[in-house]
Amino acid sequence: MNKTDRLLNKDKLKIIAEQLRKPEGDLAIDVAKKMNSGNRLINLSTIEALEVKPHDRLLEIGMGNGFFVKDIFALNNSLHYCGCDYAEIMVDESLKNNEQLVKAGQAEFHVASADALPFADHIFDKVFSVNTVYFWEDPEKVLAEIHRVLSQQGKLVLALRPKASMEKYPFVKYGFDTFTKNDLTGLLSENRFSVMNYWEKEEPEQDIAGKKMKVETLIVSAKKQP
Ligand SMILES: C[S@@+](CC[C@H](N)C(=O)[O-])C[C@H]1O[C@@H](n2cnc3c(N)ncnc32)[C@H](O)[C@@H]1O
Repeated sequence: MNKTDRLLNKDKLKIIAEQLRKPEGDLAIDVAKKMNSGNRLINLSTIEALEVKPHDRLLEIGMGNGFFVKDIFALNNSLHYCGCDYAEIMVDESLKNNEQLVKAGQAEFHVASADALPFADHIFDKVFSVNTVYFWEDPEKVLAEIHRVLSQQGKLVLALRPKASMEKYPFVKYGFDTFTKNDLTGLLSENRFSVMNYWEKEEPEQDIAGKKMKVETLIVSAKKQP
């Protein structure tokens, strides 16, 4: 690869990284659709880890275009789902993709950042987030917000691609924080959560930035300490 190609490649990787962090502008809708296929298994496994019960009140942080909300309601139709994302275009897409659930008052979507959740204290039974922890600028502040909005018996489920595989993806050097299982469980215990369970899974390889690469999933569930 010559110098010009290297520069072009670097620009492309930076754009991918920025779009994954916060999908915006002309590329956003397409990027979100690509995430739906690449992140299908991690999202479905996370929904399973939630162990939803009838009438659970759920909050998802960073739902992208809200494509998997239907899969939560397929498990139980009595839930209430609330999604928030700091990318306005993702909230718009989520509203379109879940029009019936929104009309029926079963789902709602808000533009909001994980570190300033616009919700009252103790109103959610479960909070979850898939592939967003890499972008939290102040993880302690985010976890304090999640702790605040969770009910006393509330549960948090975080899902991500673990550090070992993330570090091989060429765009990750442009603004991602990566976590091992111990990094994540340590962060949770230091911020008033007790780790309950974790799942480590290997997924089929995916084409990532033009190369076939290993894909892994790490899901950690934790309950709120008083
Ligand atoms: C990589 S995408 C993942 C989307 C979806 N959860 C999935 O797994 O396919 C990250 C999403 O989280 C949102 N996001 C990232 N950091 C956030 C934060 N601090 N607060 C709210 N939303 C955030 C982004 O706007 C984007 O929609």
